[in-house]
Amino acid sequence: MRPTIATALLTCAGSALAQDFSHDGNYGAPVSRKNSGPMATGFIMSDAGTKSHQASPPKYPSPWGEGLGEWAQAYQQAKSFVSQLTLEEKVNLTTGTGWELESCVGQTGSIPRLAFRALCLQDSPVGIRDTDFNSVFPAGVNVAATFDRKLAKARGAAMGAEHKGKGVDVQLGPVAGPLGRTPEGGRNWEGFSPDPVLTGVMFAESIKGIQSQGVLASAKHFIGYEQEHFRLVSDSTGYGFNISEPNSANMDDETMHELYLWPFADGVRAGAASIMCSYNQVNNSQACQNSYVLNYLLKGELGFQGHVVSDWIGTHSGVASVLAGLDMTMPGDSAVYNSDDSYFGANLTVAVLNGTVPSWRIDDMAMRIMAGMYFVEGNRNRGDINFNSWSLDTYGYEHFYVGGAIGKINDHVDVRGDHGTLIRHLGAQSTVLLKNIDNTLPLTGKEKLTAVFGEDAGSNIDGPNDCSDRGCNNGTLGMAWGSGSANFPYLVTPDSAIQSELLSHGSAYESVLNNGALDSATTLARRANVSLVFANSDSGEWYIEVGSNLGDRNNLTFWGGGDELLDTVASQCNNTILVIHSTGPVLLEKWANHGNITAILWAGVPGQESGNSIADVLYGRVNPGAKLPFTVGKSRQDYGTDILYTPNESVPQLNFKEGLFIDYRSFDKHNTTPTFEFGFGLSYTTFSYSDLHVTKLNASEYVPSSGHTNPAPTYSNYSTDPADHLYPSNFSRIPLYHYPWLNSTNLTQASGDQHYGLPGFIPEGAQDGSAQPIPKAGGAPGGNPMLWDVLYRVEATVTNTGSVAGEEVPQLYISRGGPHDPVKELRGFERVPIQPNSSVTFCVDVTRRDISSWSTFEQDWYVRNSTKMVYVGSSSMNLPLSAVLP
Ligand SMILES: *[C@@H]1O[C@H](CO)[C@@H](O)[C@H](O)[C@H]1NC(C)=O
Ligand SMILES: *[C@@H]1O[C@H](CO)[C@@H](O)[C@H](O)[C@H]1NC(C)=O
Ligand SMILES: *[C@@H]1O[C@H](CO)[C@@H](O)[C@H](O)[C@H]1NC(C)=O
Ligand SMILES: *[C@@H]1O[C@H](CO)[C@@H](O)[C@H](O)[C@H]1NC(C)=O
Ligand SMILES: *[C@@H]1O[C@H](CO)[C@@H](O)[C@H](O)[C@H]1NC(C)=O
Ligand SMILES: *[C@@H]1O[C@H](CO)[C@@H](O)[C@H](O)[C@H]1NC(C)=O
Ligand SMILES: *[C@@H]1O[C@H](CO)[C@@H](O)[C@H](O)[C@H]1NC(C)=O
Ligand SMILES: *[C@@H]1O[C@H](CO)[C@@H](O)[C@H](O)[C@H]1NC(C)=O
Ligand SMILES: *[C@@H]1O[C@H](CO)[C@@H](O)[C@H](O)[C@H]1NC(C)=O
Repeated sequence: MRPTIATALLTCAGSALAQDFSHDGNYGAPVSRKNSGPMATGFIMSDAGTKSHQASPPKYPSPWGEGLGEWAQAYQQAKSFVSQLTLEEKVNLTTGTGWELESCVGQTGSIPRLAFRALCLQDSPVGIRDTDFNSVFPAGVNVAATFDRKLAKARGAAMGAEHKGKGVDVQLGPVAGPLGRTPEGGRNWEGFSPDPVLTGVMFAESIKGIQSQGVLASAKHFIGYEQEHFRLVSDSTGYGFNISEPNSANMDDETMHELYLWPFADGVRAGAASIMCSYNQVNNSQACQNSYVLNYLLKGELGFQGHVVSDWIGTHSGVASVLAGLDMTMPGDSAVYNSDDSYFGANLTVAVLNGTVPSWRIDDMAMRIMAGMYFVEGNRNRGDINFNSWSLDTYGYEHFYVGGAIGKINDHVDVRGDHGTLIRHLGAQSTVLLKNIDNTLPLTGKEKLTAVFGEDAGSNIDGPNDCSDRGCNNGTLGMAWGSGSANFPYLVTPDSAIQSELLSHGSAYESVLNNGALDSATTLARRANVSLVFANSDSGEWYIEVGSNLGDRNNLTFWGGGDELLDTVASQCNNTILVIHSTGPVLLEKWANHGNITAILWAGVPGQESGNSIADVLYGRVNPGAKLPFTVGKSRQDYGTDILYTPNESVPQLNFKEGLFIDYRSFDKHNTTPTFEFGFGLSYTTFSYSDLHVTKLNASEYVPSSGHTNPAPTYSNYSTDPADHLYPSNFSRIPLYHYPWLNSTNLTQASGDQHYGLPGFIPEGAQDGSAQPIPKAGGAPGGNPMLWDVLYRVEATVTNTGSVAGEEVPQLYISRGGPHDPVKELRGFERVPIQPNSSVTFCVDVTRRDISSWSTFEQDWYVRNSTKMVYVGSSSMNLPLSAVLP
């Protein structure tokens, strides 16, 4: 067993979050009723959730950053910098220079005059994409399974350090959207869990970790990005679907606040310096030009002080997006990759010169980008960008897509440090033990013959990095596919790690790694003392199709004959252990009830140390303590939500009619018994729960934020003469590059916009830089700070009743008690090591936010007058302790 430390008394989980943000924030967007009348800009009424039919009205102007909370100093520093900039230099900060033209997946323009190099934005949430000598970390879904805040932060810090070492300024992660509305969702694994509280905590800790290393976290994807199908028109036509706009996630205001926005509030409160808007539409307005979600929710209510960057080619307009709150466009190209034109660049310069985009707005865009740099990087050095995303060769084209000069493009800097140790530990700490009959596990390694089965235990014979962006499912599933991937520096397979283990004990070992070799499997399983079957289920991002799965999974069963292989082995061997690698839930009912399947482990998507991590658990060096971060239902229908696989309209409508009721909230509501519930996970020891204490604390009464912001500041003047904004003479342009300068003093010609100067729709109030009302629920990064006031302290005793040390995750659920509220919702948890025959006190500070409901009418949080219950236990269905919240 891994040695554990006896813990006497833990500090309360919530207390560390109750920070000292001042409560006198001074800006925000209006909550004015007069704006919420007729749908002026194409918003439709949402096909709402359980109660309300909330629309998304236009919300302008775009709130300007003012240095709220901990951002004050960063805003001062940014002000000194931005005040020196010309209009073109500001525009350069906001505009990507073009796809595959520079080193990083996204790179802004630079400011040579001030020796300020371009910002480098780079994937991914599991490590640095498209380079070498980097680590591959366990996926977000594994981090969620650890229920361990410290590990989430440590992983963030390790990833941040690696990005820093390559010269990256902005890591494109972590992910809280998708949240995981449907278990089939292709990118759920990049995020954490369909529970918004678990995701919110892990999202915030990851952001703090990444940013502790001087790298900005681009927290993504904002918002409602819950499926891959029809996220972009270009991907859709490629697969023969005829749609006219990206899908629209339609949801009501309460579902938005209590479910999908929740983790983003935690992320903003944790200091996220960048937020990436998503490909989909929200209530029929593009997420990257949706004034309701960007201006009103994110920058207004959540008081977000950093910048909003588009997902790659997720920008659909120039002026409209800028006025709706978009601050940076990536990769800079307009509707398609490698386009010659940009919605920003020269167009943005023109839009400022012709008065359509107010000068305070371009200043705010530059301020938000630079303030984030100061907030996160502080006085650290910005090293050179020492890698190239488009080639791993040492020498190559400096501007890959257009060719041209050859130079040194990769220094091959090894940034891994000793992160392999952390990755191995995380892999084991995230492995969930689902079944363990008669202490089958841990194994001793002295079993005479151990047999391992399944392609998922072995290597990809074409190499771990053979398929671009891991767009195949060959060999063990250490990482899923898409832009959320990275290159493996090595991949320890279960086959090799388990073999080493057994050889060290002088035992015999054989493996059959071909899922289709059922005869060989039969013969071997019959002889084996213990059989380990590895099976998987993969998913990813829509631009790659794997085995007819367009990102989202087509089914919740095992891939490539995994179920048949398992059936075959289990029919021959009465000591069959199933190990699962998957991006989300797989159907296990049959296997959970199979008498010869003596143990089941879910190992998720564990990264480069996969084999070592699982061996640590199988052979008892690590006592499993992870818990399921989602529900494993008996059938896919039991979830009550699914992917829309065929367009229902030319603008596919995804109606989130289930409201809050996803994952266990849905199972609870319909009284459906799952195979394994949310929060479930066994240990090699046992725990008991006792002594629930609830203390009511004296928190002051909630005060909605009020007052007004300052008027929008502007930081410099610029010449309005187009002649002062022309390309410098003799400037040598790189083909397809997006520059901020004009090619003509005639603005119509410089823009090239076919509709130039036509009386376009400038939304009411969009150019208004006067003081604006502060939202009641706003006032500081994350929202009204009084939401984090502690109202109750809940304590319970957890005792290790077994004979070995172990780790438990006591969980606190609350029933808010309203007629339409979920039966219960996770609100607190802590991963605690406990020695045999010892106890620890589990303690949670219950905040106002934890028991609040969103009022669509007040546009604020309130505590409903209802009987509220608190439950404590080891999973969402095993809650032995309960009490009324007084
Ligand atoms: C904008 O960025 C490009 C690319 O880095 C650079 O060539 C150009 O000089 C920059 N323009 C200004 C005005 O700084
Ligand atoms: C400005 O935007 C319009 C509309 O997308 C586009 O046609 C035009 O080429 C753009 N101009 C530049 C200089 O990129
Ligand atoms: C201002 O410039 C933008 C960007 O080129 C253009 O789309 C818009 O039509 C122009 N508006 C006016 C009123 O000239
Ligand atoms: C790897 O995956 C690809 C794509 O799914 C498939 O075509 C190929 O046959 C696989 N290769 C091996 C060796 O299994
Ligand atoms: C589920 O999908 C996977 C991957 O496409 C496939 O290998 C498997 O056969 C499918 N399962 C069923 C029952 O069709
Ligand atoms: C369990 O395994 C034994 C062999 O040990 C076999 O005889 C039996 O049929 C198996 N049971 C099932 C349900 O497959
Ligand atoms: C499992 O199978 C082994 C060998 O086939 C046999 O010795 C043992 O009794 C079986 N155990 C049970 C519980 O059936
Ligand atoms: C500017 O260019 C447009 C489009 O080519 C043209 O119609 C217009 O007459 C020009 N304006 C001037 C003042 O030259
Ligand atoms: C200037 O740029 C616009 C937009 O890209 C383009 O349409 C126009 O042809 C260019 N004019 C010249 C003179 O290069």
